Amino acid sequence: MKTKITKAVIPAAGFGTRLLPGTKAQPKEMLVVLDKPVIQYVVEEAVQSGITDILIIISEGKEVLKTHFRPDEALEKLLEEKGKHKELEAIRSLNHLANIQYVYQHEQKGLGDAVLCAEKFVGDKPFAVLLGDTIIEAVKPLTLQLAEVYELIENPVVSLQEVPLVIAHRYGVFVGDKVKERLFSGTELIEKPPVGKSPSNLVFSGRYVLTPDIFEALRHTKPGVNNEIQLTDAIRMLMAHRKVYGWAFDGKRHDVGNKLDFIKTNVLFGLKNKEIGEELREWLRLEL
Ligand code: G1P
Repeated sequence: MKTKITKAVIPAAGFGTRLLPGTKAQPKEMLVVLDKPVIQYVVEEAVQSGITDILIIISEGKEVLKTHFRPDEALEKLLEEKGKHKELEAIRSLNHLANIQYVYQHEQKGLGDAVLCAEKFVGDKPFAVLLGDTIIEAVKPLTLQLAEVYELIENPVVSLQEVPLVIAHRYGVFVGDKVKERLFSGTELIEKPPVGKSPSNLVFSGRYVLTPDIFEALRHTKPGVNNEIQLTDAIRMLMAHRKVYGWAFDGKRHDVGNKLDFIKTNVLFGLKNKEIGEELREWLRLEL
């Protein structure tokens, strides 16, 4: 289905501190899950959701993200000569995924500040934000789910996930009233509340459809948790003049920027893979 949302912003400028030293020279968004870097899963979700224009926010040293989506004629020629058609197809498919542009966030001042770097690219239309280190598995791509919800409510909508209340403080927390199945109207949004003080177990899960007034709000957002400009704080500001919705999606979120999830995601994707799934299952059974 075609929706009004055709532009997406993918913040990928942050340091991958939870996976150091692995992510010192290798961006966490380029870590491979099965046979593709995380960022490719994210871009593919955007494309499958009807997005045609993508802005990836990077920082100095993360240029390899650009290299991944840039055509590589020498590699294509080599694969062609060697008759490696499957690999050639996989490489070529990257060339025409979408119109991908890049912008630098020069100082790591937070997710909100990263999104602010997209103002010129976005212009005056609603747009999607997909966190570059998070893979979402869902029957219908999550960004498309949000874009469809946006068509109905014409207000910002963020993806939500239920987590055990005891770990909700690790996330942006959404407090709201249920409007209908899966849809909540926000009453309070809190970025990483103090431990044990979370008023809700519905948390922000890495996908957003936002309206361009977010940029004005971001310009007025003071540094919050971790002394960073938080996107959640700017979205909360929008609630002064419009509604903000949350969509509790059906699917799984894999935050590949931490050790446990990175390993789990690889195992899960490996088990589902036709080529190696059966052998991996057998190996795990014998090994454990
Ligand atoms: C970011 C957001 C937070 C959200 C989380 C997971 O936090 O600021 O609201 O819950 O992603 O999507 P981070 O994990 O970058 O600290």
